[in-house]
Parts: sequence; C-alpha cells; structure tokens
Amino acid sequence: MSNHPFFEIHKDIPREGPGNNESTRKAFRLLNGLPAHPNILDVGCGPGMQTKELATLTEGTITALDRHEPFLRELEKWTAEHGLTQQIKTVQGDMFDMPFPQESMDLIWSEGAIYIIGFERGLREWRKLLAPNGYLVVSELTWLTQERPDEIEAFWMENYPAIKQAEANEGIIEEAGYHLLHHFTLPEAGWWEYYRPLQERVALLRERYDGQVEMQQALDETQREIDLYKKYGAYYGYAFYIMQRQNDK
Ligand SMILES: C[S@@+](CC[C@H](N)C(=O)[O-])C[C@H]1O[C@@H](n2cnc3c(N)ncnc32)[C@H](O)[C@@H]1O
Repeated sequence: MSNHPFFEIHKDIPREGPGNNESTRKAFRLLNGLPAHPNILDVGCGPGMQTKELATLTEGTITALDRHEPFLRELEKWTAEHGLTQQIKTVQGDMFDMPFPQESMDLIWSEGAIYIIGFERGLREWRKLLAPNGYLVVSELTWLTQERPDEIEAFWMENYPAIKQAEANEGIIEEAGYHLLHHFTLPEAGWWEYYRPLQERVALLRERYDGQVEMQQALDETQREIDLYKKYGAYYGYAFYIMQRQNDK
C-alpha cells in the first residue's frame, strides 16, 4: 500500500492538505468555552502539522488518529523529540469507526480530512463522541462563488461532487445538530504551504521515476490539481467551520 504512487508522492511533505498554522490558531481562539484541560481528537491527522500547533495552544491532551501508519510514526518521532508524549497520543484507526467512548471529547478537530467520510456523515457520526457543548472544527473544500467556469466545475464534479457553498453547508450543520459559531476561508497562502512542497516533490519524482508510466500519470494528476488552483483559486477554497454541539437533538 505504501508503495502506491499516491503514498510515494505524499511522503516527506509537512502537511497533507491545504492549511497553515495561522488558521489553526485563528480557529482555536474562536472557541471560548473549552475546559482548562480539554480532551481533543484530531481526525485524519496526517503527519500532524495542526496537531503540533494545537499542542502549543492548549494544555489539554490530543489524540491524533490516522489510518496511514507512516504519518503516525513521523508524528510520534517529533512528539518524543519535543517531550510531548504525555500530551499527544497517536491512534491508528478508521474515521468511519473510531474506538472512543460516547461523549468523551471536548473538541474534535479535522483539517482537510472530513471529505473522506463525507461532510454530512462525518458531522452526524462524530457528534456522538462529543461531550455536551463540545466543539467540532473542520476544514472543507467549499465553492466561493455562485457561478464557476466549466473547466473547474467539471474537475470538482468529477473529483469531489459533494463540494458546496458555505450557505449550503450551514444548513447541513444545523440539521446535523450543531450551531455554527463562525466560519472563515483559508487564505491563499495556506494552499501554497501544501502545494509548494508537493510541487517540489513532483519535480524530484519526475526524474526518479523517469519512464514509469503509472507514476508519471499520478504526477501529471497532482500537477494538474496545482495548476487548476493557480488558474481558478478565486472560485473555491478551504473553509473552516467552527461548530458547537446542540444538546437538544
Ligand atoms: C488530506 S490528508 C489531511 C492530513 C492533515 N490533517 C493535514 O491537513 O495535513 C487526509 C488524511 O486522512 C487520512 N485518512 C484517509 N482515510 C482515512 C480513514 N478512513 N480514517 C482515518 N484517516 C484516514 C489520510 O491518511 C491522510 O493523512
């Protein structure tokens, strides 16, 4: 599995989706009712860029869950080097079936990963793990405009047909039993924190896997996604949704 072109491309890069520490901090600071030592779950943590940032913002404990073991080993190495093994625990697990007691989390965090289970399903299923008044913070690919050029519309309809505008997601959030406290769009710089190292990796692997068709095709697809963002980044973005569990549903 780890030799698959996807994992070879997505190796040794600091983050696995668009984001930046500034936005992680901004979203966290919008939560003003957390207990002093919150129990936090970071779903689809990847190599843990946001996990590490959260650890600077709270004295709570963070459980970082991902399915891909090499990402967890990377995060564990960092955690040990920084003396944070008491604060950050890793769990290899599946976001579709997470092994935690009901109502055990004060905060569930997930940057660029809820799309895997689906925004609506993730909201509904993860709610059970949240303590009363607990918070859910996710970032999700979101249309920024009502109208879009055909090329980018077609690309996302093929690759992520569930993409919506924020207004439509707001309805889903209320229906799923949350109050939307805030939402904001990740600045463009956050995309380049992901795409810049990814693009460097694409260039490196082009040479390393010269003549290997499957890998070259995967590299073309990755490059295409980056090029489309350059061209159409005004039409879509990653939105952070900061939500609180409603207790009466
Ligand atoms: C786009 S990456 C985002 C990673 C990280 N949050 C970041 O922003 O850098 C999505 C992550 O979800 C993980 N993942 C994929 N399917 C999963 C599943 N079923 N359960 C848990 N994690 C999963 C992947 O291994 C990957 O680390």
